[in-house]
Amino acid sequence: MTSGMRTIAARAHAKVNLHLGVGELRPDGYHDLVTVFQSLDLSDTVTLEIAPDTDWVMQGTIVSGLSVSGLDAAAVPRDDSNLAWRAVDALVEYYRRHHNLEDSNRVHLSIHKGIPTAGGMAGGSADAAAALVAAHAFLSERFPKLRAAVLLDLAADLGSDVPFTLQGGTMLGTGRGEQLTPLLSRGTYYWALVFFKEGLSTPVVFRELDSLREQGRVPEPRMDTEGLSKALLTGNPREVARHLHNDLEAPARQLRPDVERMRRAGLEAGALMAMVSGSGPTVAFLCGSELHARDVLDDLLADGAYSGTVAHGPAKGAHLIS
Ligand code: C5P
Repeated sequence: MTSGMRTIAARAHAKVNLHLGVGELRPDGYHDLVTVFQSLDLSDTVTLEIAPDTDWVMQGTIVSGLSVSGLDAAAVPRDDSNLAWRAVDALVEYYRRHHNLEDSNRVHLSIHKGIPTAGGMAGGSADAAAALVAAHAFLSERFPKLRAAVLLDLAADLGSDVPFTLQGGTMLGTGRGEQLTPLLSRGTYYWALVFFKEGLSTPVVFRELDSLREQGRVPEPRMDTEGLSKALLTGNPREVARHLHNDLEAPARQLRPDVERMRRAGLEAGALMAMVSGSGPTVAFLCGSELHARDVLDDLLADGAYSGTVAHGPAKGAHLIS
């Protein structure tokens, strides 16, 4: 960063799906979902470095480049396929179309990752949400602030999990996951998270589920979240543990047998419940307390083959930090 360059930074959090029910494959290639998202304190930071007023952009992207540091940094794309880059482009296009934005400073994006890449924890979505918040703060210095509903629409166009990472907390997600209703969740839930060196591609996991279903090798979709919603009101992790469910777990296990070995090891280590996070391969172990989660994690990471962390939820949505 050149000295004196102005920056705006925002942070967005990882998620776990406490329930992920996957319904029919729709004509648009997405699946109908009924999911319960909860955000975790694990987060990524996106920083906009704003070029001086001598460097204006009138059309095309305003992003001059993107750098990545932190967890799994080498696996993150640094071009305009990166969701954070696309989020800035989408917001600029919206301001050009609706608010006569004609010129803008060029910006450089720096992403600092704390969320694993392709781990089923919405890392890319969090980067998009943080980039939206930072770019919105920047553009609304000269132009009107956008309504929350407009930002959520832009978020949904970027990816099914982006609206949730923008909002945070605990939410019921329907549609392809982008239609959100807040849920009441009492207490704090502690997790031991185990990351895998090699990620899983979300579309590949959904396709594997379709193929297992065609072969009749998986149970019916579970679209009912009532038990979980009630359990979340108790604030008791033992109650919540009984209602965790993920329809994408079977395909993730099919694609990555080491996931099942890890699940078993965590249960033997005393976790209340083990589940694949989202489309995996991250395995999330719900524990009774922070200390319990540390014990379970220490056990699972003892041989040095895996990495991981303790995290707790719920956490907040994407927010400015400077
Ligand atoms: O929405 P997003 O771009 O993150 O989704 C990535 C891919 O995951 C989709 O292209 C689709 O293959 C799969 N997906 C799905 N049903 C959903 C969400 C995602 O099949 N509800």
